[in-house]
Amino acid sequence: GDFKAEPFKIKAVEPIQLIPRREREEAIQKVGYNLFSLNSDQVYIDLLTDSGTGAMSDRQWAGLMQGDESYAGSDNYQKLVAVVQELFDYEYTIPAHQGRGAEQVLFPLLAGKGQYGISNMHFDTTKAHVELAGAKAVDMFTENAVETGKYHPFKGNLDVEKAEEFIQEKGTEKIAFIIMTITCNSAGGQPVSLENIKNTKLLADRYDIPLLLDAARFAENAYFIKQREEGYQDKTIKTIVKEMFSYAEAFTLSAKKDAIANIGGLIGIKDDEKLYKRARSRSVPLEGFPTYGGLAGRDMEAIARGLREVIQLEYLDYRIGQVKYLGDNLREAGIPIQYPVGGHAVFVDAGKMAPHIPHNQFPGQALGVELYKEAGVRGVEVGTLLLGRDPDTGENLQAPLELLRLAIPRRVYTDNHLDVVTEGMKRVRDKADQLSGLKFTYEPEVLRHFTAKFEPV
Ligand code: F0G
Repeated sequence: GDFKAEPFKIKAVEPIQLIPRREREEAIQKVGYNLFSLNSDQVYIDLLTDSGTGAMSDRQWAGLMQGDESYAGSDNYQKLVAVVQELFDYEYTIPAHQGRGAEQVLFPLLAGKGQYGISNMHFDTTKAHVELAGAKAVDMFTENAVETGKYHPFKGNLDVEKAEEFIQEKGTEKIAFIIMTITCNSAGGQPVSLENIKNTKLLADRYDIPLLLDAARFAENAYFIKQREEGYQDKTIKTIVKEMFSYAEAFTLSAKKDAIANIGGLIGIKDDEKLYKRARSRSVPLEGFPTYGGLAGRDMEAIARGLREVIQLEYLDYRIGQVKYLGDNLREAGIPIQYPVGGHAVFVDAGKMAPHIPHNQFPGQALGVELYKEAGVRGVEVGTLLLGRDPDTGENLQAPLELLRLAIPRRVYTDNHLDVVTEGMKRVRDKADQLSGLKFTYEPEVLRHFTAKFEPV
């Protein structure tokens, strides 16, 4: 067929600059080898996250001028409610300042002391909010998720059998909810199949446990279902999205991902009016009056418009295609990655690339630092550094995988930028066996990855 380029042209540009190598080396040493501590002007291509970093469309920007900043009953809130009803078929919408805002409102209504939250894999903040609510977060991903070199179409799936055993062992009343992360960020932006969502719903119903979605990257997940799942090739993204959401009771959603907004989040509740009323009350002191939830009217407008744009097939072809482009190039260069590539990022298998660096010297971080020195590219470690210590015992945990995540912001970088990343990674590959690990010179007690400092071992 016709070769397709980006389904947009560029109307505004933001200059970026590669500072000289010597300055990069100085900069990263000065901040104790923590990539979070760099200033953005020290970074050339920023693949730290795809969250809030997307480029809005001209229609979204135009929508900002139509922000209705009324404290109560904003017109933009009504638009948000309408789009949530149209796309997801959920009756109730409560905005939040971002995904974790939605989590802090909703989770304590469903989870309490001594209970468990089950997920394919919790994102850090969902785990934190499950645990702040007094419950324990357990991950029940399948073995496929950790076999990075081996193809599986749905590495994000929840291990339904394992979850059922766990429920039987602990007792139904001990399970607060099951939350499906779609796509599964921590496993590599890996999709969850509709079959798996359906089976999880059946499981949840058997034991009368609510099923939630962590829907930050719902459209990317739907795209993979269309591409890979039997029977969905001819369905529209919109139809697939609706079916995905039909199996859950409620969702939390970070609008900084698949709403292509720079800030925002949502709680959606399908039809449970009681739960909605409780969430609405809780929203007031935490996030804001329930028709704005910590957002300006203009932010809600950008989200409402972004949600319609993100489900367009041309957009998703481009989006997932670009992430795959980087993944394919890295694989061709012999760089081990989570394969097949996920929706929002390429995850480099640092454990495989630098097997001589032990997990407690953070191979993902070491590769990330080296990539920054080589090419001014900033990724993020997803491994033992991120996992932290056991909150009860203080013991250092070991992550199932040591990864370097290269997250691609939506509609921001061109393939040329990604070629810079590939070239940089090739130079890192050539010296991977000589890289040293890192050890703490400062380790904060919680969320250590954000502010820790290191020195080479
Ligand atoms: N759920 C998932 C799956 C996420 O990836 C994130 C954020 C959140 C919830 C929380 O949303 O940031 O709006 O409060 N992920 C970002 C990332 C930070 O870089 O992966 P938030």
